[in-house]
Amino acid sequence: MVFESVSRTVRILLLGEPGVGKTSLILSLVTEEFSDHVPPKAEEITIPADVTPEQVPTNIVDICMAEQSLEQVAEEIEKAHVICIVFSVEKQETLNKIASYWLPFVRENCPDDHRKPVILVGNKIDLIDYSVIDNIWDIAEEYPEVDRCIECSAKTLTNVSEMFYNAQKAVLHPITPIYCIDEQE
Ligand code: GTP
Repeated sequence: MVFESVSRTVRILLLGEPGVGKTSLILSLVTEEFSDHVPPKAEEITIPADVTPEQVPTNIVDICMAEQSLEQVAEEIEKAHVICIVFSVEKQETLNKIASYWLPFVRENCPDDHRKPVILVGNKIDLIDYSVIDNIWDIAEEYPEVDRCIECSAKTLTNVSEMFYNAQKAVLHPITPIYCIDEQE
């Protein structure tokens, strides 16, 4: 049995194409309200243990490709325990980029034998009246590190705290084998 000691903090990194709502999700979680005016990148936020469902201090880290180099983003991937790749449900190209760009980029920056759990986050569900979850099964099959997909809205606060709670759970109670045993002897 592979056993990993439980981390004393959970570090959640949000990745994804520009404009999908990463900063808005973080600020909606913290302020419990949506603002149309958010900075390009949220400051790193620490949620104290006693207000998280799993009672573990949680750091939330935003990225902004317009302000950061790929090397800086790669360093953040190395430091994170779980990665939320955000797409906008009303922009198909932001979903396409998950398999064509973001998941390979995350893999490149994780050791082969220790893939980090990934949550796919479909934001802006307030803008559509259907679900896009059916479009992600193929991605989840190809990338077993995908723990789950969650649809949410930073604007209406739908599933925002659930998204961060699921990211915490993916680290503390993983449901997928994070160690890639098929590549070991
Ligand atoms: P970058 O900083 O460029 O990486 O963008 P980002 O992913 O941080 O997106 P940001 O939070 O700046 O949001 C981009 C735009 O989408 C803003 O105009 C937000 O107001 C809007 N937005 C974010 N979340 C939602 C949402 O859930 N619903 C709707 N309708 N608009 C949203």
